[in-house]
Amino acid sequence: MMQKKGWVLMIKVNYEYCDKNVSDLKMFEKEIKTIVDDFKNKKCVGNDFIGWYDYPINLKKEIISKINSDAENIRQKSDVFVVCGIGGSYLGSRAVIEAINGFRKGDIEIIYLGNTFDERYTGDILKYLEDKDFCVNVISKSGTTLETAYAFRLLKELLKKKYGKEYSKRIYATTDEVSGCLRQMANEDGYTSYVIPRNVGGRYSVFTPVGLLPIAVAGIDISKFVEGAIEAHEDLKNDKIEENIAYQYASYRYMKYLNGEKVELFVTYSPYLNMIAEWWKQLFGESEGKEGKGLFPASVNFSTDLHSLGQFIQQGSKVLFMTQLKVLEKGHLSIVQSEENLDNLNYLSDITLGEINLRAQEGTNKAHYEIGGVDNFTFEIDSINEFNIGYLLYTYMYSCMISANLLRVNPFDQPGVEFYKQEMKKLLKK
Ligand code: PA5
Repeated sequence: MMQKKGWVLMIKVNYEYCDKNVSDLKMFEKEIKTIVDDFKNKKCVGNDFIGWYDYPINLKKEIISKINSDAENIRQKSDVFVVCGIGGSYLGSRAVIEAINGFRKGDIEIIYLGNTFDERYTGDILKYLEDKDFCVNVISKSGTTLETAYAFRLLKELLKKKYGKEYSKRIYATTDEVSGCLRQMANEDGYTSYVIPRNVGGRYSVFTPVGLLPIAVAGIDISKFVEGAIEAHEDLKNDKIEENIAYQYASYRYMKYLNGEKVELFVTYSPYLNMIAEWWKQLFGESEGKEGKGLFPASVNFSTDLHSLGQFIQQGSKVLFMTQLKVLEKGHLSIVQSEENLDNLNYLSDITLGEINLRAQEGTNKAHYEIGGVDNFTFEIDSINEFNIGYLLYTYMYSCMISANLLRVNPFDQPGVEFYKQEMKKLLKK
């Protein structure tokens, strides 16, 4: 267990339910070291998009203070905060907010828009906002993404209707420093604005204002979140694979890929972690899935999905392996002994629900690995808090950079995404 700046952080990798151990991964250490050296020396493919690596370290206190003060202001004047963005422009903040705040809405409700063309969803949210005080954070690096731009136009119309000339004081735009129509609007209409650095791609942007403003509005301590990333940045400089969990994770994935197990299932045991899985899927899917290569990143939330997909995992096609995010924290919720014991549950009265969840994980891992032959690479963390989540997300980003380089693909572009946009635009202009 590591004592980190007042936080007790426990994060480790557990190989108990894997057919490989860290010693089997040692053979990748040298290759990874070369990848990392090239990355740090800016000799890697996609080297104009590596600004995320140092971003948390160089993040100025003034930016954190400005974000916190805008967040406070937003909370004061709003019932609802609308995060308008898609992909890397919203998944990171949503993942952190839902993991940490869970069901609690706190002082302000956060709603996500601009990530779909669904008319019913969009219309329902606009209707809901009619009698609420709200602010909007429109986030788009390019400033041209249609889902986001269209929803923003609708939100702006509603803001103008509700607040007249004052409408622009309720808009916070996060976009490129100089280019794109969102930057132009922000300058001309006088929105408060934040910068997405040119050299940071959307799915690597959670530690920039893209992620930090919504996270701060949700009442979460962004300094501790960034501290977690800084700590991970430091720890991941270690080039011994035994002591570097990103090296281990990237090489484990690569080994699975070479072995033909092309589907990676990200496993969590809390519905509050579903959006972490969504963020993780985008990170790895968009970074690696190109040139006919890559693992398909999928996710399951247990025990819920044991009652739907558990059967396939146990006995279906042998194409998958699992990466589990295991949280060791337990609470105090338990049942009391009942005299009638009609449900026969008295035997569980001396353990908590958290303990039951951990034992369910143990049992499931045994069944999947020992009987089903499905491996489970496990990240264990002691609890969900700002520091740990910051540490974890940064570790995944760093692992992803290594992993994509092992596959010899550019981790930072997404040329395939353009095809749907082109085809859609042709149809929309008809
Ligand atoms: O990771 C990425 O780069 C993408 O997922 C983008 O974040 C997403 O397409 C949204 O793009 P933009 O921020 O330009 O609207």
